[in-house]
Amino acid sequence: MKNILHIISSARGSESYSKALSSAIVDRLVQQGNINTVTTRDLVKSPPPYADETSIYEFYKTPEAYNERSNQLLSYANTIVDEMHKADIIVIGTPMFNFSISTPLKAWLDQLIRAGVTYAFDEQWNRVGQFRDKKVYLAVASGGRSIEGTPDYLSAYLKDVLKAYTGITDVETYRIEGTVEPGFEPDYDHILEKMKF
Ligand SMILES: Cc1cc2nc3c(=O)[nH]c(=O)nc-3n(C[C@H](O)[C@H](O)[C@H](O)COP(=O)(O)O)c2cc1C
Repeated sequence: MKNILHIISSARGSESYSKALSSAIVDRLVQQGNINTVTTRDLVKSPPPYADETSIYEFYKTPEAYNERSNQLLSYANTIVDEMHKADIIVIGTPMFNFSISTPLKAWLDQLIRAGVTYAFDEQWNRVGQFRDKKVYLAVASGGRSIEGTPDYLSAYLKDVLKAYTGITDVETYRIEGTVEPGFEPDYDHILEKMKF
């Protein structure tokens, strides 16, 4: 039995296409069976803290050097790391904002990724991600449509950062595009027609 972590990062609530697409992915996974729990983390309803001067200091420590104050300052970070440990499948919904991921999703990544926690170095000083067996489904909503020749910064960035700092390489991306076009009608079934399980 598998556990799903569903990350929502659009501020548009029930109007959000990335939330609807990521929720449709979760629904399909649940319908397919073999799912134990679904944990939802809405990054807009409970926003991640921004890394500030004091908390950044804790991020540079190795886990052995943490003290009681570290645990207070890293409380959010530790909670989301625990959620990642528990999850087999992570479904991430994000709007495209200026070719990139949403601000709360970036803040979540900045809290999540930590040396000695989400990645470590082996004897040859190669980075080894700690979440190698997990799968990510990425649901991206954009007002425009992909233009031939324009790099897909958003999913390329997310794939690279997950690979380098968590070890996750299995990332399947689904896009809902053209959401600001007049008369736009979402067709989630069509987008997820070829979804792999
Ligand atoms: C600040 C801002 C920046 C945006 N940047 C882009 C962009 O770079 N490319 C694009 O296609 N759409 C862009 N959009 C449109 C959103 O991607 C689109 O409205 C999308 O549906 C939002 O996701 P959501 O429905 O999950 O909230 C932008 C919208 C806002 C408010």
